[in-house]
Amino acid sequence: MSRLIVVSNRVAKTDGANKGSEGGLAVGVMAAMEKAGGVWFGWSGKVDNRDETAKHEVRGNIEYVTVNMRQSEYNQYYKGYANSVLWPLFHQRPELMQYSDRDLSGYIQVNKKFAEELLKIIAPTDTIWIHDYHLIPLGKILREAGVRNPIGFFLHTPFPSLDLLRTVPGYKNVLEALLHYDLVGFQTEADHLGFCMGVCQGLGGEILKHDRLRYGDRHCTARVYPISVETQALPGVADRGETTQEYQRLYESLGDRKLLIGVDRLDYSKGLVRRFQAYDRLLGHNNEFLRQVVYLQISPTSRGDVQAYGDLAKRIDREAGHIIGTYADFDWMPLRYLNRGFRRKTILAMYRLAHVGLVTPLKDGMNLVAKEYVVAQKPEDPGVLVLSELAGAADELDAAVIVNPYDVDGMAGALAKALQMPLDERVDRWKSMMSVLKKQDIHAWQQSFLGDLLHLTKPQTIDSTA
Ligand code: G6P
Repeated sequence: MSRLIVVSNRVAKTDGANKGSEGGLAVGVMAAMEKAGGVWFGWSGKVDNRDETAKHEVRGNIEYVTVNMRQSEYNQYYKGYANSVLWPLFHQRPELMQYSDRDLSGYIQVNKKFAEELLKIIAPTDTIWIHDYHLIPLGKILREAGVRNPIGFFLHTPFPSLDLLRTVPGYKNVLEALLHYDLVGFQTEADHLGFCMGVCQGLGGEILKHDRLRYGDRHCTARVYPISVETQALPGVADRGETTQEYQRLYESLGDRKLLIGVDRLDYSKGLVRRFQAYDRLLGHNNEFLRQVVYLQISPTSRGDVQAYGDLAKRIDREAGHIIGTYADFDWMPLRYLNRGFRRKTILAMYRLAHVGLVTPLKDGMNLVAKEYVVAQKPEDPGVLVLSELAGAADELDAAVIVNPYDVDGMAGALAKALQMPLDERVDRWKSMMSVLKKQDIHAWQQSFLGDLLHLTKPQTIDSTA
């Protein structure tokens, strides 16, 4: 049996630290790793200029191998090229890009450092699965070092159209690097198409049979694998969450009021400003909701030392202050806005308590909060998911109340509709979404990606005409 080596910048925290701010990658990959076991390699989360040795730690069937980052590496690779160039670019915000050659070379340097450490542990029969935009060049670097193992790559974020991709200097290298993987996975058809068009029109490559792409002597297969959640296990986790003190306190504080909930890292891609404005409009135009609803927004600070994130935090503070100042009463707060995370089980129980789940990103790869919100609901009295059509999840969860996150009035209307939706319609919508999530859970995601990767790299499957 082949051992699985997963590589990602962020390795899931299993000790409960940094609660709730890890994002979809850590949550999704953790669920997949728990079942398959193997090695999980990545950044320790620590910045340390003196200690660069890799740490090995075994927990259950996962061996964690982590390395620290030097301050300059953190600045150029993580804060710089990954989160001030690729992240805004992939989320359709090129005006937020802060490109510099120095950050790009720091980004490549950290990918080389990861490769050097990986070369110490890769055995000939291992399967290597690399994740996300931080590590796009890693496959190419490993290939150049002679690694012949199956190597797959999965992008958790959206992938831009060629027009947008062209705004980054050296965009061809991004496309070309991805062609060094045996299999590249995307969240949605649109992302997949963006990549294929990039390879064909941006590089002059071509599309062959069976999702294969060719550029010069490089071949790779690119397909869509929408990431998902642990559909079977999550209701039990939500049950456990209902026994926590935090949940009990929230429950008691609500009385008869209906809860709306949003849980997002504090990130400009999440559409929080317009979401707050929509809630403001809901309260301003519909007196009947005053004192009857509470909106809980949980937004742990994320990448706070990147300027665009600091600016966003200030902006949201203003919006929150406006809502509270305008509508609050001495015995009612319309909005509870928290910049910290909670344990997963508590969050899942809170989802279950909420009449409305708000997931309104301006752009999102998948958004696992949307899927988790649905799975956490009580079958006999489910809440309503209000979902942005610009989240990858909307491709599958089309029975949600779908909104355009740029249309503030439209979102305010959708909130009113969700709050007033009759039980039979809520149940119908929920069942329809659950039927998708039962088939397409996190294990199916992992199995289909790794199954395809192994199949594609079996010697007899290589198409000599391609
Ligand atoms: C998104 C990205 C992940 C990232 C996560 C949290 O989900 O796709 O790669 O780990 O955000 O962001 P952070 O910068 O804290 O790792």
